[in-house]
Amino acid sequence: MQLFKQLDELRSTVADWRRQGMRIGFVPTMGNLHNGHLELVHQARQHCDKVVVSIFVNPLQFDNPTDLSAYPRTLAQDCDRLGDLADGLFTPSAELMYPSGQQQQTRVQVPGIAEVLEGALRPGHFDGVSTVVCKLFNLVQPDLACFGEKDYQQLALIRKMVTDLNMPIEIIGVPTVRAEDGLALSSRNSYLSEAERAIAPILAATMKELAERMQSGERDFAQLIEDGRQRLDHSGFKTDGIDIVDAHNLLPITEHSQAAVILMAAYLGNARLIDNQVVPL
Ligand code: PAJ
Repeated sequence: MQLFKQLDELRSTVADWRRQGMRIGFVPTMGNLHNGHLELVHQARQHCDKVVVSIFVNPLQFDNPTDLSAYPRTLAQDCDRLGDLADGLFTPSAELMYPSGQQQQTRVQVPGIAEVLEGALRPGHFDGVSTVVCKLFNLVQPDLACFGEKDYQQLALIRKMVTDLNMPIEIIGVPTVRAEDGLALSSRNSYLSEAERAIAPILAATMKELAERMQSGERDFAQLIEDGRQRLDHSGFKTDGIDIVDAHNLLPITEHSQAAVILMAAYLGNARLIDNQVVPL
């Protein structure tokens, strides 16, 4: 695996691969890699000749400076985990990505999706995501990029950006990788104490219960959300949001909706955990 810290070496190596007719896959991450990230790299490998991974803790998408400084940075361990699974690892600095500073950075804003749900709770977050992913796409120029379904709204945001801006990149959504007890793998799970880690699977279990009730015909979404909130809050979580919306456009469910998505966000101690599940209607 080649390590790229500068733009020129990345660009010239990828251009070289492309001249040889190779198909390039890309997996953007913020590091602290776990099996969820590695699954994205596996998927990219299946479809491409060369795979580039990026690790960049993007300051533009953090609405909270404490969260940004606390975010786990584990480059040596990440390199070990990647081994030869990827061909290139791009680890730019903030100065390299935002040479004129964050305020002067041209932004990519995806209307609608960026402002609702998680976007309403974390203003500016999704503009930071679409902007950095657009820049990374321009730097790597991949044929294909993989994103996790775990970040459901992020995946929808990237798909819309790619469509709206006519980017010639295929986006692959990869199902959420979970621990055996159902907890979705996340870099933020490392913030959990042992006691919190034991409670954490209740988030996915609560979501599954809501999904099962919907599958057996329940349609009182306000009641389902309230029951979910109560179960989480009584189990030691602080619910930040439960939403049940149209899985296709993240808007309220109508009689035309073919599938719903349950989106869950809850604090457990200092960790904000998220999860989601699609339910056919
Ligand atoms: P990060 O949280 O590091 O996640 C990188 C990619 O891994 C995302 O596409 C995310 O959805 C996926 N992922 C995380 N946990 C997963 C799991 N348990 N199963 C499957 N996929 C999982 O998401 C970001 O970074 C950033 O916002 C980024 C897109 C890199 C832009 O800065």
